[in-house]
Amino acid sequence: MVATTSPRPPASRDVPLVARRPLQGPYLLLTFRHPEVAGRTRAGQFVMIKANTAADPLLRRPFSIMSVHPAEDTFTLFLKVVGSGTRALADLRSGETAGCLGPLGRPFPMPPEDHEALLVAGGYGIAPFVLFGDELRRAGRRARAFYGGRTSGDLQGHDPFTALGLPLACCTDDGSFGHHGRVTDAVEAYLDTRPGAVTLYACGPDAMLHAAARLAERRNVPAQVSLDPWMGCGVGTCLGCVVRIQRADEPRGKYRCACTEGPVFDARDVVWAGEGSSRARREAAAVLR
Ligand SMILES: Cc1cc2nc3c(=O)[nH]c(=O)nc-3n(C[C@H](O)[C@H](O)[C@H](O)COP(=O)(O)OP(=O)(O)OC[C@H]3O[C@@H](n4cnc5c(N)ncnc54)[C@H](O)[C@@H]3O)c2cc1C
Ligand code: FES
Repeated sequence: MVATTSPRPPASRDVPLVARRPLQGPYLLLTFRHPEVAGRTRAGQFVMIKANTAADPLLRRPFSIMSVHPAEDTFTLFLKVVGSGTRALADLRSGETAGCLGPLGRPFPMPPEDHEALLVAGGYGIAPFVLFGDELRRAGRRARAFYGGRTSGDLQGHDPFTALGLPLACCTDDGSFGHHGRVTDAVEAYLDTRPGAVTLYACGPDAMLHAAARLAERRNVPAQVSLDPWMGCGVGTCLGCVVRIQRADEPRGKYRCACTEGPVFDARDVVWAGEGSSRARREAAAVLR
């Protein structure tokens, strides 16, 4: 059975593109005017959006909100063009509109006051951490980010994050920029310096999220992961985004909509394919002891 909440979804509205900044390769920044998204978004939330042009397919696509600018009633997305929906958005010109629903989803919870937040991003997974880094900085919390990609071209979110003034370690699989190696290796090396209490936050490709969750389990640190499933509606009706989650009080996992109950989940609760949740593994080990 699929567990759902009963959200009251925001209405879809047509929002004009006000700025478009191409970055290298398939990446770009798009800024839209939308007073509710600009005024109400919390870091980790997303919009469902599609270009209002003939080129665009039927469904809106999900994108994390990278930054908000309440004084201008605008918000910015960090886009990687991968298919027809992202292409149609990338081809919008200033003044053209997109159909937009949001802000949607569960935001990142703040870490305990004495914890340093470690933001672990892969590729476009840096997007929600620009807003979260800003929230943490404004709240006077300690935070640093680890940002990984296959190659230097995949670290196009570098500048918006650096503007926050928080420490940032970049990593590439091919060594073309920053540390040579996986982003989770850089996090592990940082944890070896015994930094004190930390909470880990991860957003990026599935394999990276899984590695971050395993790292958090091994090092016994709390972690939140922002999952990235396919989404059709964004409001809990199509069930296209279900993920298996097992909370502390539940004997087994339940399918839950990532759009309404996520995309951010406690890493211990996520039932990873072929492996189960770390919470269930720990409980099983305790029974055997
Ligand atoms: C909560 C959430 C936040 C997201 N935030 C961002 C963001 O900030 N920036 C950004 O560029 N993208 C983000 N995405 C991914 C983005 O939604 C997809 O890349 C987009 O829907 C692809 O649409 P398309 O029509 O261009 O591609 P399609 O034609 O639908 O697909 C093209 C290719 O991309 C793959 N793909 C499609 N959807 C996803 C997905 N969700 N994850 C991984 N691969 C996918 C397909 O398997 C296919 O290989 C986010 C996804 C989620 C669920
Ligand atoms: S995307 Fe439709 S239920 Fe979540």
